[in-house]
Amino acid sequence: MVTLLAWRVPPRSRKRPATKRPATKRPAVKSSAAKRPAAARPTATRSQAKGSTAERPPDKGPITKRSPENLPERRTGAGHYFAELVPGLEEFGRAELKRLGAGRLDRAGDGVRFAAPANLASVLRARTVTAFYRSVTFAVPRPKGILGDQAMRHLLEEIGAVMAEGERAQDERFDGFRIAAAGADSPVFVRLAEQLESGTGLKQHDDGELLLRVRPDPLSEGWEVLIRLTPRPASSRAWRVCNRPGGLNAVVAAAANKLVGVRATDRYLNLMCGSGTLLVERALAGDAQRLVGLDIDAEALECSRANLLAAGVLERCELLHADVRSAPLPEAGFDALLADPPWGDALGHKRSNRELYPALLSSAARLAAPGARFGLLTHEVRLTQGLLASSNEWLVKRELQLEHGGHHPLLLLLERSSGG
Ligand SMILES: C[S@@+](CC[C@H](N)C(=O)[O-])C[C@H]1O[C@@H](n2cnc3c(N)ncnc32)[C@H](O)[C@@H]1O
Repeated sequence: MVTLLAWRVPPRSRKRPATKRPATKRPAVKSSAAKRPAAARPTATRSQAKGSTAERPPDKGPITKRSPENLPERRTGAGHYFAELVPGLEEFGRAELKRLGAGRLDRAGDGVRFAAPANLASVLRARTVTAFYRSVTFAVPRPKGILGDQAMRHLLEEIGAVMAEGERAQDERFDGFRIAAAGADSPVFVRLAEQLESGTGLKQHDDGELLLRVRPDPLSEGWEVLIRLTPRPASSRAWRVCNRPGGLNAVVAAAANKLVGVRATDRYLNLMCGSGTLLVERALAGDAQRLVGLDIDAEALECSRANLLAAGVLERCELLHADVRSAPLPEAGFDALLADPPWGDALGHKRSNRELYPALLSSAARLAAPGARFGLLTHEVRLTQGLLASSNEWLVKRELQLEHGGHHPLLLLLERSSGG
């Protein structure tokens, strides 16, 4: 075991209880016209490249020939939302958003933008979206323009609306804010942070729950501010009361289940289930004839049990303490299988994977019914592709390359072939 992979469940989400914090008094959102208290100057502005898709640094020249004075300080994206998607898994996010009634989706950098739908609450329940934001576009040539009086007033109104809605709907408070932008340490962003501190009453700090992403607008000239709707990303699930090193990101798990297909007639098996992310997300996605998770590690199974219980699906699931190589389960007894085996970095070793991966593929083939689907998520790309190239048990139906937290794992959809 080395370190926890960044793109897997962040350790922070494990600690944070889903309980309401005691209410403390905080001033209402004010206009940016309010004078900045001289002492409120933050010592530093968080520079967080993570999640930022800025293609050009701030204040490095206008994007149009017009000077900021000649551009109207107006919002062009008012009433819009942004859904951040996992690169490589966008199709699942888009399909779910459509199904939930998001309407027209416009690709915008690492996600999609859509106009405020009538049934926003339903859209926000999407399980294959990393995070939802309010999107505010300013027709300014550089971030400095957002500091203008009219633009800042609009931004503060939008932030105020997000905070009020967050507290009302999610029973959670935003304790501080942080800015994610290329060049977030620049004087312009320091000034922006000062004005936001003054206007919102929130302090800027590294763990600030109100996340603001500032980037060049992907759909028009100008700059976009994305205001995350929730203190935590949507991928941080309320059911996760237990985590393990290597625990899978729940959004990736939800998409992997969709890739394999969710059918009420399925006998579903999550091999090497760990903390149960795939199993929980599958149980929440719909009915199945049978839902089974197995792992060699008894502590991992306890963790799965706790998460399944918190999700309210424990009674529908079976957990099995077994080695995947000799699992006492019926031959050809499963229609849908999922596995997220050790990648050999955070968990396991590259050397042992050379023995474990072929065993996993042949055990899964033994347990799979003819035509069964098998979703395999792995960072052992060469090893897996080499094994599948010579396999007469599994056909590769789809191969998706994901990008998340600096990793590029493969998500494969395999089908049990009739030969082998
Ligand atoms: C990457 S973790 C799975 C993470 C899981 N998807 C989650 O969200 O927590 C890999 C799991 O494989 C299990 N494992 C390793 N070797 C195994 C074996 N031979 N049989 C069964 N499980 C095994 C480990 O105990 C570990 O829980």
